[in-house]
Amino acid sequence: MTKSLKLFKEIELGPLSLRNRVVMAPMTRSRATAEHVPTDMMATYYEQRSGAGLIITEGVAPSPNGVGYPRIPGIYNNEQRDAWKPITEKIHKNAGKIFMQLMHTGRISHKLNMPDGAKIIAPSPVPFTDEKMYTDQEGPQDYPVPEKMTETEIQSTIQEFVDASKRAIQAGFDGVEVHGANGYLIEQFLAPNTNTRDDKYGGSIENRNRFAIEVSKAVADAIGNEKTGIRLSPYGVFSGIEIHDEIDKQYTELTDALNDLGLLYIHIVDHSAMGTPEVPASIKETIKDHFKDGAIILSGGYNNAEEANDDLENDRGDLIAFGRPFISNPDLVYRLKNDISLAEPDQDTFYTPGAEGYVDYPKADEK
Ligand SMILES: Cc1cc2nc3c(=O)[nH]c(=O)nc-3n(C[C@H](O)[C@H](O)[C@H](O)COP(=O)(O)O)c2cc1C
Repeated sequence: MTKSLKLFKEIELGPLSLRNRVVMAPMTRSRATAEHVPTDMMATYYEQRSGAGLIITEGVAPSPNGVGYPRIPGIYNNEQRDAWKPITEKIHKNAGKIFMQLMHTGRISHKLNMPDGAKIIAPSPVPFTDEKMYTDQEGPQDYPVPEKMTETEIQSTIQEFVDASKRAIQAGFDGVEVHGANGYLIEQFLAPNTNTRDDKYGGSIENRNRFAIEVSKAVADAIGNEKTGIRLSPYGVFSGIEIHDEIDKQYTELTDALNDLGLLYIHIVDHSAMGTPEVPASIKETIKDHFKDGAIILSGGYNNAEEANDDLENDRGDLIAFGRPFISNPDLVYRLKNDISLAEPDQDTFYTPGAEGYVDYPKADEK
């Protein structure tokens, strides 16, 4: 019997009507070309998953400097923009909505993964030393020491986010999600262990929040606040971010500023289901309370409809994002609705090129 839960009910997200409250979480899949151009196979992948109320794309590089990983797509030239168009058209044809996640990786990068002439930049010259960066050419490599961004580079990087978001709209996206989570450039500014600056972009909470707010404002001014969301990961430790004493205060102030900008949503990451430290429920409540005018997307560790619906019913969030379940269940909404068991994703093919583990997961009624 089909379940009739709040999760499957329509919702107005700013100017958008979403047919349900299930969001496909942004997931890097590294199936673009070596030149970071989207492919037909990517269009098939997203089309297969267009039953989501809202799709948020994999992280997309706003500029050559923002390309951290091999074969991730970009939106820094018109060839890339035009190659995204068939993707947004397919989603809209199926009555879906799609946002592009703008991901500047900052220090989480390697020259071998980047276009010629690109620079590895970050708030401070602090390298990530705990892990290695994968490259297609030479396998895992040490992370480099990033160059400290000058104030001029900070301004030009903000402009890159603006140009990228305008191109995303030209490509037919319904909006963009600024990636402020998971240890990439924006979170490198937020966190004191990766931001040791002593100018107006470092030191105090106000200064460490400045870059995130300036990027969000510039993007919202360029394409509209009702088309601009942001992803944040308070208490996250991905890519070498360290937990510190001021997180609650910092994210409260950040949320107030983002609320003042009238952003469409805040997408809160909780990766504790992936083995990272717990994200206190209180910080999620605080963000929800302070983000008075916009929506909250919750993500991380949802594997069934009831758990997701419970968070909606208890007003902990407005939408629920599913990540890994969408990789292996293209018809995830249908399965959740009809209580059909979920297939497990194959981790070995998360980032490999080719169709395997990407567009070959069957729908429930194709098995
Ligand atoms: C293969 C893979 C790639 C991911 N890439 C991104 C990304 O590009 N941007 C991002 O914000 N999060 C990324 N994530 C995190 C997911 O969006 C999500 O937060 C995480 O998988 C936890 O949700 P889940 O338990 O539903 O999978 C990625 C996760 C996976 C498994």
